[in-house]
Amino acid sequence: MAKANETEQRLIKSRKRVRDHGEVFTPDWLVRDMCDLVAAQCADVGARFLEPACGDGNFLVEILRRKLGAARAEAGGRNDTAHFRREAFRALTSLYGIDILPDNVRNCRANLLRLWAGAHNAKLRRGPRWAGCERSAQFVLEWNILHGNTLKPDGSEETPAVVFVDWQWEGDDVRGTEERLSALLQAADTDSLFSVHDCGNAIGPLPYWQLGGELPAPKKPVAAEPVKPPTPQHLRRFEWGMAELRADGSYQPLLAL
Ligand SMILES: C[S@@+](CC[C@H](N)C(=O)[O-])C[C@H]1O[C@@H](n2cnc3c(N)ncnc32)[C@H](O)[C@@H]1O
Repeated sequence: MAKANETEQRLIKSRKRVRDHGEVFTPDWLVRDMCDLVAAQCADVGARFLEPACGDGNFLVEILRRKLGAARAEAGGRNDTAHFRREAFRALTSLYGIDILPDNVRNCRANLLRLWAGAHNAKLRRGPRWAGCERSAQFVLEWNILHGNTLKPDGSEETPAVVFVDWQWEGDDVRGTEERLSALLQAADTDSLFSVHDCGNAIGPLPYWQLGGELPAPKKPVAAEPVKPPTPQHLRRFEWGMAELRADGSYQPLLAL
């Protein structure tokens, strides 16, 4: 039965997308076989992966599934829910992706978020700490899964420069440092994803459930008025980055500073 479902798995979205962007998704069975080749790294919560053409996240989702399984097994052994929650979040920060098509970027983030959230049981989903975790998970995914052209990491007219955040953990605290992909690629003397620390803007250190910030609740319903395009005065710098101030008083984290 599983085989039949996999045969039916949709591997292309349209002929045009195949022609324009080579968009053909890898079937689940092949993703699993390929992940088996690096099974130890997939089961290492902190091991970092970059998918330079991530699509909807077929590979990143499978890797996250394995990392969450490893975190669950370890926390189960200790009967430690706080440990699982932190390790599950750390797993999320370890995954990076780029895609040239914005809808793929959105799907990839949503697929990772759904899997991550679904791995938490009812007890773990209670209380303000969970709300903070969810917001912070979205924040991390906006920095880690990026719209960009991997072949033009400094950006072009169609795509922004690819700037990742190197997340460093100490206990429950996380510190993020921005790193331009082009600088990382030029550092030829290493095979580590993050090897240069030259570009600066820092996030934190903060407890991981506060990364998404304390976003103010909308004050009142938005009046039906035309939405103005964002202009520089709508942009505000926060401890954790830049955000667009919306008409209803809420904030939308931006992809790149
Ligand atoms: C062959 S699909 C593979 C998707 C996914 N990795 C998988 O295996 O299912 C290639 C993906 O790369 C994206 N892509 C094509 N050219 C790209 C580029 N220069 N930079 C980033 N992504 C690109 C496409 O939009 C598409 O989602």
